[in-house]
Amino acid sequence: MEQAGAALIRQAMGEKYGNLRIEMLPTADSTNLRLKEAARAGAIDPPWLLTADEQTAGRGRLGRTFVSPPGTGLYMSLLLNHPPAGGQVTITAAVAVCRAIEELTPLHPRIKWVNDLFVRGKKVCGILAEGAGSRVIVGIGVNILTPPGGFPPEAGLAGALDMPVDRFTLAGRIALHLMDGLAGDFSAVLDAYRARMPLAGCQISYLQNGQEKNARVTGVDEAGGLMILGPDGPDTLRCGEISLGSQSFSDLSVFE
Ligand code: BTN
Repeated sequence: MEQAGAALIRQAMGEKYGNLRIEMLPTADSTNLRLKEAARAGAIDPPWLLTADEQTAGRGRLGRTFVSPPGTGLYMSLLLNHPPAGGQVTITAAVAVCRAIEELTPLHPRIKWVNDLFVRGKKVCGILAEGAGSRVIVGIGVNILTPPGGFPPEAGLAGALDMPVDRFTLAGRIALHLMDGLAGDFSAVLDAYRARMPLAGCQISYLQNGQEKNARVTGVDEAGGLMILGPDGPDTLRCGEISLGSQSFSDLSVFE
């Protein structure tokens, strides 16, 4: 099973990145954590791809949990020789996942800045990029199918692709686009990101210094920051989280 999965990943990547080491676990607390510990122990050289069939403590941004039940999702982490700073890795990963889903399904995922992917108004993918010394670990979780009984309440706005997608093929296409994107011209990645990030013109709210503020999105800048027109004039958000105030993502037609 493990070998067949790795072969499918390699097949999906074509001839490229033959140096990528692929490991698969039936279960892990968190694939990001496993890679982080291995990197800390000096046990591995990038690039490495680790997948798990399920995660018992999947990690999301801002200390949240990423619900990772067995058999219905793709949970993967890549350790890459790339500086972890800035939003470039996260943005490239978001575009890579969109491209892979677009290739393998008729779906057109939309990106909610900075790194959540939505389909039919539901979050189908989360991305968590973490530094490991001078390298980066890019963790990606894609909900392929809705778990039997549905998502638990703690999964929030979670939804699934609900398409017959082979998760190893999906992992291979994502890894390929991510590694290609990081090796290439970031402005091309940004164009692809902007085309899938439909918030320009929308009203959002965000937290700044513990204070909730409202603003209108005006675009995405050359470094991937969210340009806004807020109460204090033009500003750029570099990290954190935005919400759509009274509207939910499922109400907003741009996320359908
Ligand atoms: C988020 O939605 O806030 C980010 C979720 C990232 C989930 C992925 S699943 C694989 C990798 N391992 C983790 O523990 N988290 C990431």
